[in-house]
Amino acid sequence: MTVHTWLRRARRTLLAVGATTALTAALIAGTETASQAATQGPCDLYASGGTPCVAAHSTTRALYGGYGGALYQVRRASDGATKDIGVLSTGGYANAAAQDSFCAGTTCVITVIYDQSGRGNSLTQAPAGGAAGGPDNLAPATAAPVTVAGHKAYGVYVAAGTGYRNNKTNGIATGDQPEGMYAVLDGTHFGGGCCFDYGNAETNNLDTGNGHMEAIYFGDSTIWGSGTGKGPWVMADLENGLFSGVNAGYNAGDPSVSHRFLTAMVKGAPNLWAIKAGNAQSGGLSTYYNGVRPNVSGYNPMHKEGAIILGIGGDNSKSSSGTFYEGVMTSGYPTDATDNAVQANLNAVNYQAAAVTSSNLTVGSRVSLKATTACCTGDYLRHNADSTVAISPLSSASSAADRTDATWIVRSGLANSACLTFESAAAPGQYLRHYGFQLHTAAGDGTAVFNQDATFCPQAGHSGQGFSFQSANYPNRFIRHYAYTGYVAGDGVGGNTWDNAASWSEDTSWLAATPLS
Ligand code: AHR
Ligand code: AHR
Repeated sequence: MTVHTWLRRARRTLLAVGATTALTAALIAGTETASQAATQGPCDLYASGGTPCVAAHSTTRALYGGYGGALYQVRRASDGATKDIGVLSTGGYANAAAQDSFCAGTTCVITVIYDQSGRGNSLTQAPAGGAAGGPDNLAPATAAPVTVAGHKAYGVYVAAGTGYRNNKTNGIATGDQPEGMYAVLDGTHFGGGCCFDYGNAETNNLDTGNGHMEAIYFGDSTIWGSGTGKGPWVMADLENGLFSGVNAGYNAGDPSVSHRFLTAMVKGAPNLWAIKAGNAQSGGLSTYYNGVRPNVSGYNPMHKEGAIILGIGGDNSKSSSGTFYEGVMTSGYPTDATDNAVQANLNAVNYQAAAVTSSNLTVGSRVSLKATTACCTGDYLRHNADSTVAISPLSSASSAADRTDATWIVRSGLANSACLTFESAAAPGQYLRHYGFQLHTAAGDGTAVFNQDATFCPQAGHSGQGFSFQSANYPNRFIRHYAYTGYVAGDGVGGNTWDNAASWSEDTSWLAATPLS
């Protein structure tokens, strides 16, 4: 074995056990070649910066160059069996094909997101808390497909009601101890309820007071804090407050951000904290706040408890949504240089949205959209004589008129050619559009608002089945059936009865079925 090989192995071993000694730093500093540096993960960068990861969660990739273990566990519906999903190679990307074959012909949920730091800080189904019962829902395993460095992988799709937690952690900051954290999120998937978070929270699932949390929040809630524009914002959930800066409420330094792949960071130390964010795909980070603790009592010193949450607030408030791809928590307050190195690493792995399509959804083809909710698996989206849209039970034995009313011709999106518009097969020139957030068919009038109302962007089905169709002009609303009527609906947000979070994932997931006519 050459000295070089020995050093590399020694470094991997040390990193694999979470060791963060001066020796590790020396090995890293002294022996890296350019090609090895390319295999470093974010946690190697935090370790060399002197602020090692104490929790490292990702369903898409290893966060250490030396990590070769399981990333997450899935459970399938057909027989309740579970399977760990690992990496294609040490330091590499998720073995999505293993998930696809295990879940073939059924659906899977993500049951565990393993901690790669060696500290056992894995995330599992969150229990009931002070604000909401439980256990929380688990994320469907196929609802957030991406590619990372060209490899297929799946993120964690959090609909309202979904949450993960660990209350018995090891090495996570408590009290006023310094820590840092980042997460890569889908900047186009968010909600306005409380609280899509990742980070440090109470160990008893209750709101135990100001300063008992320190977590990344992402969404457009204005209940506690906000920044410029209409959101969504990266804020810090410090308990009883989402903070966008030093003041409670509005802070001008925190802009709306909606990068498809968003790097969100929060750091906290004694009377010091920061919010940073950037586009994970390219470019650097911006600092939206860096300064003293909020000018509200109870946040200095902090009273961090050291549990870890994902998708929920500290008291298990679970009314919001988002998508998580990877994230870590560190011991110590990372330097800006380390943050920048992590952002460069994210740029390099090049997260991309996965193409989600079906031959029945190619432009020019005909399709019928079949409901997937248990109530209604024989039902199709169709329009009625009065141009309202509903679901009704149909089959090849139904009348030709009914079958045609449930058949759509796929057109390039009137407002966005990357998305789709559905033209009625029964009434050419009439398109599926929302109006007052209810679905109708109507003749195109060429206006921008009509074109937007009639454009829907397909993505992986929220429940893990089929497709979900996002409204082009209301990106938090999707084609949904509710009480057998067609709407565009938000996941618990929007204020209409059909925005009900119950069954939202299922009601917004449709099979792109063989056309009925
Ligand atoms: O700080 C905002 C929220 O307030 C917390 O996440 C939750 O614990 C409390 O309801
Ligand atoms: O469906 C929501 C909005 O209602 C549409 O964008 C608009 O056409 C109508 O005012």
